Amino acid sequence: MWRALLILGGFLPLCSGYSGQRGVGCRVVNQTADCSHQNLLQIPDDLPSNLTSLDVSHNRLRTLNVAVLGRYWGLRLLQAGYNNVRTLEAGLCLALPHLTQLHVQHNEIRNLREQDLLNCSKLMELNLTSNRLKLIGEPFRPLQNLTSLDVSVNGLNSTRLGKQPQLRSLEQLSLSGNKIFILQKDDFSWLNQSSVRVLRMASLPLRELNPGCLKPLRELEELVLDRTKQSPHLVENLSRELAGSAIRWLSLQNMQLVSVTNTTFMGLQDTNLTSMDLSHNGMSSIGSGSFRWLHTLEDLSLQGNSFYHLTKDTFTGLGNLKSLKLQRALVNNALIDDYTFQPLKRLESLWLDETKLHNLSAHTFSGLSSLQNLSLSWSLAGLSTVTNSTFASLADSPLRMLNLTAANIKLLRDDAFSGLRNLTRLYLTDNFISQVLTGAEFRGLVSIQELCLSFNKQKIQLRPSSFVSVPTLKSLLLRGTLLGQLDVEPSPFLPLQELSLLDLSNNNIAIFSANLLSSLGQLKVLKLQHNNLADMWKSVAPKGPTFFLQGLENLTVLELDYNGLDEIPAHAFSSLRQLQDLSLAGNVLKFLHDGVFSDLVSLRSLDLRKNHITSVPQAVFQPVLRNLTVLRLGQNPFDCTCDSIFWFVDWLNTTNASVPQRDSAYICNTPPAYFNKSVTRFNGLSCKDMTPFQTLFVLSSTTVLVLMGTALLLRFQGWRIQFYWKVVVSRTLGFREVDLGEERFLYDAYVIHAPEDRKWVDRHLLPLEEEENFGFCLEDRDFTPGTSRLESIVEKMRQSRKIVFIVTETLLKDPWCTLYVRHCPSPC
Ligand SMILES: *[C@@H]1O[C@H](CO)[C@@H](O)[C@H](O)[C@H]1NC(C)=O
Ligand SMILES: *[C@@H]1O[C@H](CO)[C@@H](O)[C@H](O)[C@H]1NC(C)=O
Ligand SMILES: *[C@@H]1O[C@H](CO)[C@@H](O)[C@H](O)[C@H]1NC(C)=O
Ligand SMILES: *[C@@H]1O[C@H](CO)[C@@H](O)[C@H](O)[C@H]1NC(C)=O
Ligand SMILES: *[C@@H]1O[C@H](CO)[C@@H](O)[C@H](O)[C@H]1NC(C)=O
Ligand SMILES: *[C@@H]1O[C@H](CO)[C@@H](O)[C@H](O)[C@H]1NC(C)=O
Ligand SMILES: *[C@@H]1O[C@H](CO)[C@@H](O)[C@H](O)[C@H]1NC(C)=O
Ligand SMILES: *[C@@H]1O[C@H](CO)[C@@H](O)[C@H](O)[C@H]1NC(C)=O
Ligand SMILES: *[C@@H]1O[C@H](CO)[C@@H](O)[C@H](O)[C@H]1NC(C)=O
Ligand SMILES: *[C@@H]1O[C@H](CO)[C@@H](O)[C@H](O)[C@H]1NC(C)=O
Ligand SMILES: *[C@@H]1O[C@H](CO)[C@@H](O)[C@H](O)[C@H]1NC(C)=O
Ligand SMILES: *[C@@H]1O[C@H](CO)[C@@H](O)[C@H](O)[C@H]1NC(C)=O
Repeated sequence: MWRALLILGGFLPLCSGYSGQRGVGCRVVNQTADCSHQNLLQIPDDLPSNLTSLDVSHNRLRTLNVAVLGRYWGLRLLQAGYNNVRTLEAGLCLALPHLTQLHVQHNEIRNLREQDLLNCSKLMELNLTSNRLKLIGEPFRPLQNLTSLDVSVNGLNSTRLGKQPQLRSLEQLSLSGNKIFILQKDDFSWLNQSSVRVLRMASLPLRELNPGCLKPLRELEELVLDRTKQSPHLVENLSRELAGSAIRWLSLQNMQLVSVTNTTFMGLQDTNLTSMDLSHNGMSSIGSGSFRWLHTLEDLSLQGNSFYHLTKDTFTGLGNLKSLKLQRALVNNALIDDYTFQPLKRLESLWLDETKLHNLSAHTFSGLSSLQNLSLSWSLAGLSTVTNSTFASLADSPLRMLNLTAANIKLLRDDAFSGLRNLTRLYLTDNFISQVLTGAEFRGLVSIQELCLSFNKQKIQLRPSSFVSVPTLKSLLLRGTLLGQLDVEPSPFLPLQELSLLDLSNNNIAIFSANLLSSLGQLKVLKLQHNNLADMWKSVAPKGPTFFLQGLENLTVLELDYNGLDEIPAHAFSSLRQLQDLSLAGNVLKFLHDGVFSDLVSLRSLDLRKNHITSVPQAVFQPVLRNLTVLRLGQNPFDCTCDSIFWFVDWLNTTNASVPQRDSAYICNTPPAYFNKSVTRFNGLSCKDMTPFQTLFVLSSTTVLVLMGTALLLRFQGWRIQFYWKVVVSRTLGFREVDLGEERFLYDAYVIHAPEDRKWVDRHLLPLEEEENFGFCLEDRDFTPGTSRLESIVEKMRQSRKIVFIVTETLLKDPWCTLYVRHCPSPC
């Protein structure tokens, strides 16, 4: 809801005729100003002048200043309750010509004069509760359009608020809590032209009703006399006064009406009364035939009374009753005779909760031929065994709902409900039923849809036949009910082909067979929380994990919270394509398989709170988070590092899904720098920048290493490499020996060597010229003087058959070496 705090630019008029007050704390929305609880002494004068509704209740106003209010001339609703207003200023309605609702309850208005409400003809609602009214003249006469007048708790000693007929539009009149002891014949004659339908006269010290006192209220439909102390025959006289009236609804709560007799309601026989409330009257007896006048009654409440005996005459005459409330209405050990309810042919609902019944007999409920709902919760103290006779009296009723919650039942015998062929809902919650269900208990419940056996102190055991009699079941609740394991074969749920809700929670079940649930193709809701299913999904189990969710292809809600689960098999959820709501809170899950949720294409809500999850990997969560509307993942010990959480924080900050407690429940556990800080404060930027930096780092360090390696290699082995390189290049390019004929060669070989190697040449090569008759060409010996060295080299190489390299390190360093190599016609 949009709420604007009004910031005031106005100024306090110091010299004007009135002294207003700034409405600093007022909230103004849609032409409505709420200035309640502001300790105001004056009505603020600086609110928008186009207000239609102003609330100045719960302040310290002494007057409703007409001069200030005049600024808000469009007001329709003025709430000024809980102040110290002593008078209504004359001219109020001149200043507020559109006023329709005026609430001035809990003030100190005393004298109400005729001129005070003059011009208030538009007023429809006037609440003057808790003032100290003293009417001077006929102050209400101008209120021609008033529909609701509340003058409760004003110390008035009469209901006569005017002499002449007036308030022709009045529909509701409240006179509760005044000092009215007697209703005189003419006390309502001032209303004989109006159409009052609702009259509240609660908490009056009423002693006497004079004949004809209610006659002017011809259209009265609803009369409330709660807490009005009963004096002898008051209700009887009231009934007489209401004879022939339009009364439909009579509330007589808490009037100390301790007994009713066959004459108490006699006057009401000429009415069409449909609803009567007689609760909390301490009533202990109902005389035979007391209600026989109320043939049109449909709702009767007798809650909170103290009856000790209901007989077959108690309810005679109530042939149209549809609902009878008897909660806490009977004292302990009270008697309900056979056929007590027989007159209630049309009764549809009977509420007998919190009533200690000891004697349900074969005919207690006989004759309730329209009964649809029977509630006996917290009742039936003595009834520990339900037999085929307990509810036999309901065999002729079209009963649809039977509430036996906390009815102290210990044993269901065979055919316990066999007569209840129309029963659709049976509640046996919170009892002490302790037995093996054979299936015979529920025989005859041919229409049953909802069976609730929850909270039976874990004393019920199931057999394959347990539910064979109730194949129509749609909803079966077994929470905190089952004793021992569920590893019965075949599955007890096999007959329940229409089941859509199964609650097996809080049972400590640890193990059951893979096909316990597999036949429940229609199942929509499965509750398995608070069991012990961790072993079912353990991969180290002797037979591997049990896939107990197979076949539940229509499942939409699955609750597996608090099962001690520490792993989920990769394909555990593979058949759950309809699942919308998955809850796994309170387990000890830490790592999840990639894609474990990826078959859950319909998932809308995921709850993984209170696990041991440290990281939220993309591969596990991205498929499922994409379509999610609610995620609950709080209270896990998150590891706030780029690897573990970066992707998730990014999702969290951009998602449209609802993430309850986003700021408070997602707390980092590690690393120490983030300990106890909200995950949302994790700085994802650092992770984003890391990516290019990493690449850059790898690239540059590789380059440096390669360069270093190359440099070192070249430095120490470069000559070798160059040599082999040349050899390889020459071989591949296929240089051949240039064969130009023998005659062209002057030398057998041209010898290339570094100058430093000359000694070696002298010692090892030159002797060969003698011994083997070789002719070598040596640069410094055979070059023609006067020609350039380059020319000589080229010339002499041509004239040599072969070229001999004296390959040494020094040669390769020699700048001429490259030249030789380049001009070398063939590898030598
Ligand atoms: C204000 O008025 C608008 C339109 O009349 C309505 O939608 C909105 O709910 C109102 N707000 C409040 C707080 O009443
Ligand atoms: C009421 O008055 C305020 C300012 O005084 C103005 O912002 C607002 O639009 C007016 N509302 C209407 C319905 O005239
Ligand atoms: C009384 O209210 C009706 C509509 O409720 C209206 O037409 C009529 O003018 C009002 N009468 C006076 C006197 O304001
Ligand atoms: C008048 O005000 C009182 C006190 O706020 C309230 O209990 C009562 O219901 C109001 N009367 C009507 C008719 O609304
Ligand atoms: C009500 O009280 C006034 C005085 O306040 C008294 O004159 C009048 O007689 C009393 N009316 C009844 C019916 O007691
Ligand atoms: C009320 O019951 C009494 C007996 O308890 C009986 O004498 C009397 O006739 C009954 N009155 C009516 C109106 O039935
Ligand atoms: C009760 O209802 C009937 C039928 O609707 C009607 O004829 C009769 O006048 C009503 N009685 C009173 C007192 O309103
Ligand atoms: C209740 O069961 C007994 C046998 O256990 C049988 O004799 C009796 O007829 C049954 N009563 C009803 C009402 O079915
Ligand atoms: C059960 O309901 C059917 C119709 O739904 C009705 O015909 C049948 O009479 C009812 N059974 C009893 C015992 O009232
Ligand atoms: C059955 O009774 C219990 C206890 O009074 C109550 O909480 C529950 O709502 C009732 N069930 C129905 C369906 O009325
Ligand atoms: C799932 O529900 C649909 C529609 O109700 C139904 O046709 C289908 O047979 C159900 N699947 C199984 C396995 O029962
Ligand atoms: C998301 O929902 C759409 C339709 O609502 C569906 O087609 C799609 O398969 C879903 N994607 C995932 C990953 O669940």
